[in-house]
Amino acid sequence: MRPIHELQPWLEDEENRLRSRLREAQTLQEIQEIRAAFLGKKGVLTAELKTLRARPPEERKEAGRVLNQYKARWEQLIGERRSQLEAQAASSFDPTLPGRPYRLGHDHPLWLTLEEILDIFVGMGFEEVVGPLVEWERYNFEALNIPRHHPARDMQSSFFITDRMLLRTHTSPVQIRVMESRKPPLRVVSPGRVFRVDEFDPTHAPAFFQMEGLYVDREVSFAHLKGTLVRFLQRFFGENVEVRFLPSYFPFTEPSAEVAIRWKGEWLEVLGCGMVHPHVFEAVGLDPERWTGYAFGLGIDRFAMIRYGIPDIRLFYQGDLRFLRQFR
Ligand code: PHE
Repeated sequence: MRPIHELQPWLEDEENRLRSRLREAQTLQEIQEIRAAFLGKKGVLTAELKTLRARPPEERKEAGRVLNQYKARWEQLIGERRSQLEAQAASSFDPTLPGRPYRLGHDHPLWLTLEEILDIFVGMGFEEVVGPLVEWERYNFEALNIPRHHPARDMQSSFFITDRMLLRTHTSPVQIRVMESRKPPLRVVSPGRVFRVDEFDPTHAPAFFQMEGLYVDREVSFAHLKGTLVRFLQRFFGENVEVRFLPSYFPFTEPSAEVAIRWKGEWLEVLGCGMVHPHVFEAVGLDPERWTGYAFGLGIDRFAMIRYGIPDIRLFYQGDLRFLRQFR
């Protein structure tokens, strides 16, 4: 049995040993082992407690007090280190793991198509302008010769914000904005997003991209329109592409045409166009006797789908890199 006066120094030494073992411990398993060695059934302190009864009564009380004081402190030290290791395990940061590769994005095929179309028109002297996505009803419909109750409004069922404001259903309102804010001659193209109440299916999306074109000057004829668009389609789809103009109807152009190209043996409609309607000139305060012009509108999504052979418009809006990476 340890003499009573050696008890405290011995406990002091044991505690230092305990502290350094705890510092070195890295796993909860090791903490278990340390606890067993110091406080377990066969631990050093337990062994010492068992000798209490053998001590003379006058030592027993003092020895018991000191041993229990150390016992409590050691429990606490072990508990603290255990919580530390548990917290570390929870955050489980393993610096030896290889890093996650940083996934770079990719130019979007709609963007690539848009840039290519823009380049062709800019090369022909057109300037790029942009218009707002939230538009006045007057710009989206009224000034484009589509009065309230006109059936053409149904074809472009829209998202209204207030009864006078909506998400634009086409890029044509930019025609009005440009004619209101500048003096002719005008040569502009305006790409951007448009919105319609449509199901998301392989050929429709509630939001998609269009590009508008507007040319205003003295004595502009349908021949100018035709020459420009044929040239553009040849540049985009290939010099030998066959192009066909079909009579059509838009409230803001007169006469109006639909343009189709022959692609893999099939005629595909690719854009709408026509000569600026006199009512449109009047709506922006231009004299239709003095000014003439043409306008056209095309769907960028459609151009990209034809060009790249994409069967489903929804692929453009899923952000899936496996799809996006396939383009240029
Ligand atoms: N805005 C028409 C559409 O969305 C396209 C168009 C533009 C037609 C300009 C003629 C002139 O369908």
